[in-house]
Amino acid sequence: MQIIDAIKTRKSVRGYKPDPVPKETIRQILQIAGRAPSAMNSQPWAFCVLGGRVLDQVRQANAAKLRAGETPGGEQSVVGWSKQSVYRERQVELAVQLFRLMGIERQDTDKRTQWTERGFRFFDAPAAIIVLTDTALKPDTPLIDIGIVIQTICLAALAFDLGTCIADQGCLYPDVLRRHAAIPDNMRIVMSIAIGYPDWDYPANQVQTSRVPIDDIVHWHGL
Ligand SMILES: Cc1cc2nc3c(=O)[nH]c(=O)nc-3n(C[C@H](O)[C@H](O)[C@H](O)COP(=O)(O)O)c2cc1C
Repeated sequence: MQIIDAIKTRKSVRGYKPDPVPKETIRQILQIAGRAPSAMNSQPWAFCVLGGRVLDQVRQANAAKLRAGETPGGEQSVVGWSKQSVYRERQVELAVQLFRLMGIERQDTDKRTQWTERGFRFFDAPAAIIVLTDTALKPDTPLIDIGIVIQTICLAALAFDLGTCIADQGCLYPDVLRRHAAIPDNMRIVMSIAIGYPDWDYPANQVQTSRVPIDDIVHWHGL
């Protein structure tokens, strides 16, 4: 796959076939993605890959906490905009599209709750990559590097016919991950990536997210 095709083809996959992903395939993807650039080649990332029984235990524990009404809160915040902002409008546009595709009515709180729970279950993907960083680093400093490696993982996965969904939902109960995946205290949980073979018949996978027109966000000087 050519690089521009890969960038254009990648999308968040929220429905997967149950087929397991070979450990060696994920290893190769992470090895390839490790070629990502980082500040002064600091490579401030580490990965914890979950599958099988461990991932099922994490899914169940996450869903149980959500159902019990425990307030979710991650170790890395990724959303922080006001309800009056353009960012909120884009968030709503995405939710409206996903709910329409999934046949979820606005008032249907049961189905909405089930949909939220799906995110906390890593969209029932057969594997999940938990992206970690070192607590010895200042909280914000590794985030650009980590963003780059995450996108590189998602692009590399395409070459193996795998889909991904970056999801903070998967790590909003960090104690669950720490307990089931023995994440050491010197590592901070930054993000999760669901990974598996896409089920293209799953309605939410038809989502087509929009992007701001390029001329609205680029300012040219001297060109
Ligand atoms: C930092 C980050 C966190 C995200 N968290 C979630 C999430 O918790 N649940 C979810 O369904 N999608 C999540 N996404 C996926 C975004 O919704 C998605 O990337 C965005 O809508 C653009 O769509 P696309 O990936 O299909 O191009 C996340 C993406 C990023 C980059």
